[in-house]
Amino acid sequence: MEASKSVFGGLARERCWGDSNGELYQWQGFWYLQPHLEAAIAAKSRFQAHDEDILLASSMKTGTTWLKALIPCIMNYKGPSEDNDPLIKHHPNALIPSIVQIFQEDLNPDLSIIPSPRLFRTHLPFSMLSDSIKNSACKIVYITRDPKDTFVSLWHFMNAKARLEEEEAYPLNEAFESFCKGIHPFGPFHDHVVQYWKESLKKPERILFLKYEELKRDPKGQVQKLASFLGRPLVEEVDVDDVLWRCSFERLKDLEVNKVGVDPRVGFAHSSYYRRGLVGDWKNHLTMEMKERLDKITRTKLEGSGLDL
Ligand code: A3P
Repeated sequence: MEASKSVFGGLARERCWGDSNGELYQWQGFWYLQPHLEAAIAAKSRFQAHDEDILLASSMKTGTTWLKALIPCIMNYKGPSEDNDPLIKHHPNALIPSIVQIFQEDLNPDLSIIPSPRLFRTHLPFSMLSDSIKNSACKIVYITRDPKDTFVSLWHFMNAKARLEEEEAYPLNEAFESFCKGIHPFGPFHDHVVQYWKESLKKPERILFLKYEELKRDPKGQVQKLASFLGRPLVEEVDVDDVLWRCSFERLKDLEVNKVGVDPRVGFAHSSYYRRGLVGDWKNHLTMEMKERLDKITRTKLEGSGLDL
């Protein structure tokens, strides 16, 4: 294992939100839980991309689950019929495996057996992707979200896990402080976003940069854009509507597979990936002072990038 205990010993360390989550280690500017970092380091040097691969990348709680449903749905779409809809039987996590989880389970996985085009997901920052990913022609879909809603969603998600493990909820104020300092798994959030944004400007044919709010505002237009980017254009309106319905928050939240059970790899309840699915829920949780503080960090971090969040 490349990242030995002595390597961790020299890294900056912080407690992660909630007792059951362990500690975060800072590696090349980003924060990782120890098992994630070991796997990420292995994946960085060993993950071999294929030109046909599709990688879904995001920070936590930016609407990844929506894309975890949309991407496999579009890639395997055969027309409006519930036959062969894998979303009925599988949580979206199972349809698009996580690179970090793969390397957590096996530091030398054989991924050649996965049929092409292979679909993967990751919360790793762009700088932690393998050179093979960076230099191949594989496509990357990145999704981001208003940092205030992202933070609120993350806080609820961590608390849902704490409840499952009969722990106290993590105080909102402390969590907010950590988020503002960028101390959360795969954080800092803003640095993560800016890295992918800049790469998407350099290589728009390889990296599609999406925003949760735009998907909410113009789902048809955004899904058509996504499908065309993936090389599977949806021409008929009836198909666009069907894909959107299949992957809708309301439908997925009510499917039995998403209401029961826990993802054994990460210990989060399947249901905790579906909460409210709204834009602007931060207003129910953050004070005006908190809003202004986080907005200011966002403005500073994104200054000059041409990106607006
Ligand atoms: P909220 O906590 O604000 O409700 P991620 O998938 O990156 O973990 O992000 C989770 C957020 O996406 C949650 O936001 C969740 O409710 C929302 N979400 C999950 N599935 C969705 C879907 N199909 N459509 C819209 N939002 C969805």
